[in-house]
Amino acid sequence: MNENAGGSNGRIHVLGICGSLRAGSYNKGLLRAAQELARDHGIDIEIYERLRDIPPYDADQDTDDAMPEPVRHLKAAVSGAAGLVIATPEYNYSVPGVLKNAFDWASRPAKGSPLNRKPIAIMGASTGMSGTIRSQLALRQSLIFTDSFALLQPEVLIPRCADRFDANSNLVDESTRALVGKQMAAFAAWIRVVNEASDAAVGVQQ
Ligand SMILES: Cc1cc2nc3c(=O)[nH]c(=O)nc-3n(C[C@H](O)[C@H](O)[C@H](O)COP(=O)(O)O)c2cc1C
Repeated sequence: MNENAGGSNGRIHVLGICGSLRAGSYNKGLLRAAQELARDHGIDIEIYERLRDIPPYDADQDTDDAMPEPVRHLKAAVSGAAGLVIATPEYNYSVPGVLKNAFDWASRPAKGSPLNRKPIAIMGASTGMSGTIRSQLALRQSLIFTDSFALLQPEVLIPRCADRFDANSNLVDESTRALVGKQMAAFAAWIRVVNEASDAAVGVQQ
């Protein structure tokens, strides 16, 4: 079993990544709400703060010797987490470049990537009407190759989000908070299912 999923204290350690670098980001506020609401479901979310430091993907630097320190840090953080929660905006109908870039780094090596078999919950808020539906689908598409275990339901797609947050970009809309809490409950169960299946698979191999 992943020692960060239901370890000795029974808590699940999860890494939260926001796809927006903006100080007043709604998606960062959404992630903070997930962090708060997940606690009741046994999940402790550590919010990743170094997305800005990650350089553009360069295969020449993707070696043990040349790998940039922020990339090492990211890969270790993903590896050490029992799951990921991604809160992402939609940029031009897709995933923001900074987030896709981080996933590109983390996706290597293809066999042995920290994203392999990693449970991932996805949520997103946009000021437009689509509620990040296209960026979430684009991200899910990338996760096929990495063989990551993206949670399917409930989806957290938040359109016209501005009115649901206060002046400090904290999520205040009760129905949206309830949806985020529901997804975190499902995610806790999903992480346990994935880990039990992995343990069973190891048992079969032994
Ligand atoms: C470069 C760019 C592209 C955008 N493209 C979309 C889009 O395709 N769909 C959408 O709903 N909103 C789009 N928006 C608006 C974002 O939803 C809005 O800026 C949102 O607040 C970004 O999330 P954040 O508050 O977490 O930074 C775009 C914004 C930017 C800056």
